[in-house]
Amino acid sequence: MSIYLNGQFMPIEDAKISVLDRGFIFGDGVYEVIPVYSRRAFRMEEHLCRLQHSLDGIQLANPYSNEKWASLIEQLIAGSDDEDQYLYLHITRGVSKRDHAFPQPPVPPTVFMMTNPLPAPPTDLLQSGIACITATDNRWLRCDIKSIALLPNVLLRQLAADAGCAEAILIRDNEFMTEGAASNVFVVKDGRLLAPPKDNLMLPGITYDVILELAAANDIPHEVRRISRAELFDADELLLTSSTKEVLPVTQLDGKRVGTGKPGALFTKLHDLYQIFKRDVMRGM
Ligand code: PDD
Repeated sequence: MSIYLNGQFMPIEDAKISVLDRGFIFGDGVYEVIPVYSRRAFRMEEHLCRLQHSLDGIQLANPYSNEKWASLIEQLIAGSDDEDQYLYLHITRGVSKRDHAFPQPPVPPTVFMMTNPLPAPPTDLLQSGIACITATDNRWLRCDIKSIALLPNVLLRQLAADAGCAEAILIRDNEFMTEGAASNVFVVKDGRLLAPPKDNLMLPGITYDVILELAAANDIPHEVRRISRAELFDADELLLTSSTKEVLPVTQLDGKRVGTGKPGALFTKLHDLYQIFKRDVMRGM
């Protein structure tokens, strides 16, 4: 597999970084995951815009123009055998002696990109839905930054894995739902799609935007507002979204059925719309 590291494409086996890289030492960096369908990077501009927001959030200069990013991304996609891929892009504050404060003067950032096959979610998952647990959202107050410092998310996802579940749905201050450990979450109540607001407590998902756009374009009642813990547990349906998972139905929460315990009507509708959108827009057919 060919990857990109600091100006060069190379086999992954040849890629080396210093043990003093601030990404390795402090988790001092940001990342993006961009889905690629039929070799077209989906919403590259939006992903690069979110990358800029993350870089601004950690006061790190963007090493490349969007044109340069686009060209590197296209080269990486072209070098892969797969039509559908997920592209991982990662920037750290570079290599310097261990000191928490930023290196002064700044050092060159480390830029890493790789691409992997992106399989469609398995049909059995779409038919049965997934089981989730709830967990206390114990992350920091800048969850809008796509930081590579993912230890809280890793531990929360592991909590779900240990319970035999696919994802942890996070509750802040014992009061309201924010998102999943690596996904956004929607609630359906009485035919209405509810989405938490994009604020500092969640990652502004690109797939989240697609779902809200599909709802708006197809007259599905929807509302963006805080969702209380009680509303999460009282949901008729729960949906989970991410660039790698598309949209999935959550049919069990903390060992109890969500709604009927089967994927609901609004999931089916949004999933169908998503597949049409994927075929016509994402693949550009
Ligand atoms: N994660 N919230 C969190 C905390 C995430 O990590 C992700 C995605 C999302 C969904 O965002 P998007 O729709 O733009 O993928 C929400 C990626 C896929 C990952 O870390 O692998």
